Amino acid sequence: MTDIKRILVPVDGSETSDRAIEEAIKIAEVYNSDIHILYVANINQLAINACLSDAILEAVTKAGNEILEKAANKVPEKINVITTSETGSPSVTITDFADEIKADLVVIGSRGLGLVKGVLLGSVSQYVVEHAPCPALVVK
Ligand SMILES: Nc1ncnc2c1ncn2[C@@H]1O[C@H](COP(=O)(O)OP(=O)(O)OP(=O)(O)O)[C@@H](O)[C@H]1O
Ligand SMILES: [Mg+2]
Repeated sequence: MTDIKRILVPVDGSETSDRAIEEAIKIAEVYNSDIHILYVANINQLAINACLSDAILEAVTKAGNEILEKAANKVPEKINVITTSETGSPSVTITDFADEIKADLVVIGSRGLGLVKGVLLGSVSQYVVEHAPCPALVVK
């Protein structure tokens, strides 16, 4: 890893993803990197894809924006931070996004908001670590 220009941090609002932001900040301070924060609204999970009402979409968007804003507020002003919200499958969307922005590093939480405990990696972190086009740091 010679130069780390762009760090991607996917966030879901969990404490673990908060810690991922904190680790990304430490690295960005050393390498003078930009931090891209991505939230993916898992619309599929709502299982009512075709008939999402405007009210539901609005609520989902608002929740996502709050998560992004909270994460971005942790980043010191001297670091360039870019927030993005997408919809779709989190694992695939995060991986594609890393590719799109040519991320040099993904910093991701080991677990998220899922309820299953006692397993090191959640399904999103497992997929991203396996398929990311760049090195990935898993934060516990
Ligand atoms: N919807 C999402 N948008 C952006 N990043 C996410 C999203 N979901 C998870 N992540 C990232 O992946 C990390 C691991 O979360 P993951 O979803 O894999 O674990 P989990 O919720 O405990 O398990 P599972 O979702 O498989 O039940 C989170 O800390 C966060 O960094
Ligand atoms: Mg999850």
